[in-house]
Amino acid sequence: MKTCKRFWALLLALALTFSLSVTASAAVEDTGFSDVDADDWFAESAVYVRDNGIMNGTGAATFNPDGTTSRGQIAAILYRAAGSPAVSGGTAYSDVAGAAYYSEAVRWASANGIVTGYADGTFRPDDPITRQQLAAILWRYAGSPAAETGADYADESIIASYAGTAVDWARDAGVISGRDGNRFDPSGRATRAHAAVILHRYLELMGPGTEETPEIPEDSGETRVLVAYFSATGNTESVANCIAEATGGDLFEITPAEPYTSDDLNWTDDNSRVSREHEDESLREVELTTTEAENWDSYDTVFIGYPIWWGIAAWPVDSFVEANDFTGKTVIPFCTSSSSGLGESGQRLAQLAGTGNWLEGQ
Ligand SMILES: Cc1cc2nc3c(=O)[nH]c(=O)nc-3n(C[C@H](O)[C@H](O)[C@H](O)COP(=O)(O)O)c2cc1C
Repeated sequence: MKTCKRFWALLLALALTFSLSVTASAAVEDTGFSDVDADDWFAESAVYVRDNGIMNGTGAATFNPDGTTSRGQIAAILYRAAGSPAVSGGTAYSDVAGAAYYSEAVRWASANGIVTGYADGTFRPDDPITRQQLAAILWRYAGSPAAETGADYADESIIASYAGTAVDWARDAGVISGRDGNRFDPSGRATRAHAAVILHRYLELMGPGTEETPEIPEDSGETRVLVAYFSATGNTESVANCIAEATGGDLFEITPAEPYTSDDLNWTDDNSRVSREHEDESLREVELTTTEAENWDSYDTVFIGYPIWWGIAAWPVDSFVEANDFTGKTVIPFCTSSSSGLGESGQRLAQLAGTGNWLEGQ
């Protein structure tokens, strides 16, 4: 159960990238990285982790496949993929400074038993992650499942005891394969190319519909997802459909009682409906056909999507947000736009709502 929830949280976060692929990815023609050729063994994974927001490139167009992956980076990657949840508890390691980019991630991972530090109270965030450490972290993140023992590696005797079951699990699940000579090479470092392939395999393995993450029946009491969205010209609707498909969520369209026509949306005309509403805030209280999503209380997670209008969330979503009680729900805003980012639109909606655990969104 714990495992299910963790993977589900991970998938919810990934869905925000709009390009989540839970089935095998297509071969890559052009990776977009100057240092990754389309036929490199890790090309598909480098593209996957970039496109799903799991690992960033190291420059405008480089992936640095031979670069080192540090322990702090792995914690940050998993934390980001889990949706950067609020953290309470966790170990205060002497070498993890509060301001470091990975500090919340390390705290979250230690609070959830995913990472452990060293006996001297350090976490050693800059140390390169080893293959056995990575196996152990992913195994713990998977809820420490049982594993078949037996098909031992030639260098089994040098695998640390904390990583023994994890390495067996990683081998059986196809997440981390051995090296030549039937070696696991436990202390070998995982380069960025290795990390990309391992994370790619891991996330695809744990996609919805697999044994580990069964589809969630409506009445199971498991996490349920609602994707609520307003879309005037269809872009946000397409993204909402992708998110609903990736998360198994239900869709709810926020529909103005008086729909916006293309003349209404003509922001270059000072007299158009949107321009007038933009100029005069009192006109922005848009009446909706309904603010009530069926079975509202049953949803744990609500995605809220909208187009950006003049830098903020298109205001028809305001009425929906104000009318509903988000207490106990995780809320994930997402937007489409010509070029603007999410900006502070999510925070503004969170303020309007006054309830709910609002994540940053994309
Ligand atoms: C009235 C209006 C204002 C807009 N303001 C912005 C803006 O400030 N920044 C931006 O990048 N795009 C802006 N756009 C473009 C829309 O955000 C973009 O086309 C969006 O994907 C439309 O989503 P929809 O098809 O779901 O309605 C604006 C569009 C309209 C109609």
